[in-house]
Parts: sequence; C-alpha cells; structure tokens
Amino acid sequence: MSTFWSWYITALTIGTLLALFWLIFATRKSETHKTETEQTMGHAFDGIEEYDNPLPKWWFMLFLGTLLFAIGYLALYPGLGNWKGVLPGYEDGWTQVGQWQREVDQADELYGPIFAKYAAMPLEEVAKDPQALKMGGRMFATYCSVCHGSDAKGAVGFPNLADNHWRWGGEPAAIKTSILNGRMGSMPAWATVIGEDGVQQVAAYVRKELAGLPLPADKSFDLEQGAAVFAANCLACHGAEGKGMALLGAPDLTSPAGWIYGSSLTQLQQTIRHGRNGQMPAQEQYLGNDKVHLLAAYVLSLSQNKAQ
Ligand code: HEC
Ligand code: HEC
Repeated sequence: MSTFWSWYITALTIGTLLALFWLIFATRKSETHKTETEQTMGHAFDGIEEYDNPLPKWWFMLFLGTLLFAIGYLALYPGLGNWKGVLPGYEDGWTQVGQWQREVDQADELYGPIFAKYAAMPLEEVAKDPQALKMGGRMFATYCSVCHGSDAKGAVGFPNLADNHWRWGGEPAAIKTSILNGRMGSMPAWATVIGEDGVQQVAAYVRKELAGLPLPADKSFDLEQGAAVFAANCLACHGAEGKGMALLGAPDLTSPAGWIYGSSLTQLQQTIRHGRNGQMPAQEQYLGNDKVHLLAAYVLSLSQNKAQ
C-alpha cells in the first residue's frame, strides 16, 4: 500500500474512533440529569413520547467497550494502513496464513519425532503398535473417511479397506504405494466395441460363470457367446480366469464381495457398457511419507484383523 493510502486509511479510522468517543460522551447526560426523570423531550410519535433520561448504563458501557476493543485490536493486529501490529511473536505482522503455519510448525515439532520413529519401522511392525494405530485411526477419520467411510468399509465406487479384497494388491508396500501415489482405475467402455448384445451376454457370463451368482430364470442368456466375448476383450486385464491384475487395478471378477460398482445384472451391464474410472487421490504431497506410513499401517491392521 502506498504511503498516501496508508495514511488516508489510518486518519479515517482514527478520526472515526475519535468522533464516536465524542458522540458517546456528548450525548451522555450531565451529572445533574444522571437519574431518571419524568421530563420528556417534547417529541411525540403517534402518541408515544420520549423521556429525557440518560443512556442505560449497560448500553453506555457496551459502546465504550467496543471502542476500547477496537483500539486494542488495531494496536495488536494489522488494520491501520501499513501498520503491522505489535502482537508478540508476529514480528512481521499477524496473518491467518502465518498463524496456521505456526500451529503446523508447532505440531510438526511436537509430533514429527513420533512420526519419524514409526516411519523407520517396517509396516508390519507399526501395524501391531497400539499407539501408532490410534494415531493412524485418527488420521484416517480426518483424511480418508469421506470416501472410504469411518469404518473403512467403503461405499459404491469406493473400496472396502477392511476386508481382504484388494484391487491394487494387499502387500504392505502395495498399500503404501496406493496411498502415497494414488491410483487410477481405468475400465474402458465397451458399448461400441462389443455391441449391446455382447454387453448382455458377457455381463451374464461374468455374473454366472465367474462370480457364481444366479441369473434371472425368466430370461435366457448365451453364456458361450459371453465366454467368447470375455476371451476376446477382457482377459488382457482381468486375466484368463478373471482373477484380476493388481498391476492395472483390474479387480478379481470371481469374488463379487470385492466389487465396488455392484453385482446385479443391471449394474454389471452399466459398468461394461460405459466403463469406470475410480480415482484414489495421491497423498504424498499433502501428508508426506511419514504420515502415509502410519496410515498404511492402520489400513494393513484392518485387513489383518479380518483374517483372524
Ligand atoms: C484395459 C483393461 C481392462 C479391460 C480390457 C477390461 N477391464 Fe474391466 N476393469 C478394469 C479396471 C482397471 C477396473 C476397475 C475400474 C475402477 O476401479 O474404477 C475394471 C472393473 C470392471 C468391473 C467392475 C468391478 C467392480 O469393482 O464393481 C467389471 C464388472 C469389469 N471390469 C468387467 C469387464 C469386462 C466384462 C470386460 C470385457 C468386456 C472388461 N472388464 C475389460 C480394466 C479392464
Ligand atoms: C476422494 C475420495 C478418496 C479419498 C479421500 C481417499 N480415497 Fe482411497 N480410494 C478411492 C478410490 C475411488 C479408490 C479405488 C480406485 C480404483 O478404482 O482403483 C481408492 C483406493 C484406495 C486403496 C487401494 C485399495 C485396493 O483395493 O487396492 C487404498 C489402500 C486407499 N484407497 C487408502 C486410502 C487412504 C489411507 C486414504 C486417506 C489418506 C484414502 N484412501 C483417501 C477414493 C478415495
């Protein structure tokens, strides 16, 4: 801000404050009128008259209080032009970003060594440490539960992390990579490639032959054609037996419990017709390696509990 505008704002603000001080004291009744009287001001509005009484004390004090608060505030915090304020600890002037940064720095200083201690331990060990799991659980609630649910059991489009079905692999390192770098599932749309009939037959094939789920009795399906469509188009990613491929995030089509887009015939057709693109956002930039390490251990512990 240029010096002119800085002074302009300062003068305007201080001038207003002084004017308000003058106003409050000028309109206050003199000593002799301090108590309430029966005397009126002589105005009448629709028969309502105004008594000539002093301002209520609570109101006067409140007004005075706000003025004093303003002076204190303007001295401590930036507000008067280029004045940076004299709040202790903020030599360059208080800012929201500065305060946030300070709190983050303080927290890092306090907890950094704890995170670093766990980051140096193998994930399998961290996953058995009660304190680490407590911290991991709290971070999970903050950063992950919006998508994966507070119990980590997922929702439509978001995988369950508390079971033993993994799209990208359930080994400790794979879980950590999923969180650090994020994942992008890419299931192509097949409607134009295999046609509507192809979609119907291959969906029936996936549901009946791979997943072992029943088909509606009132409709007939050509499962052989479905198998042929699968062999020609799907096994590149989902594997010859449909067991999936962790490298591509292609799920195991033989265990519907791990599916995230639904297992009804209609949902399967929808998935195959239009494709799916699930995205797990990368956390490395945002949380850093040490916190992700704890989160990975927490996620690992969830599926291990399940295995027992
Ligand atoms: C290019 C690799 C690729 C090919 C080819 C492919 N898929 Fe997929 N498929 C994927 C990926 C990756 C996902 C996971 C998408 C996601 O997570 O959003 C997926 C998801 C699915 C799902 C959803 C599972 C769930 O979790 O709900 C079904 C069903 C499916 N594929 C069936 C098929 C069928 C049938 C074909 C052949 C017509 C096929 N896929 C071909 C990669 C592929
Ligand atoms: C914006 C929503 C979103 C948030 C937030 C999110 N995830 Fe995910 N996550 C996903 C989706 C979607 C997938 C599945 C990607 C796919 O289709 O393959 C996924 C996949 C994963 C996987 C791989 C699962 C598997 O089966 O291989 C792990 C592990 C994971 N997330 C952990 C986390 C953790 C830990 C956090 C918190 C730091 C988190 N996620 C936050 C949406 C999210």
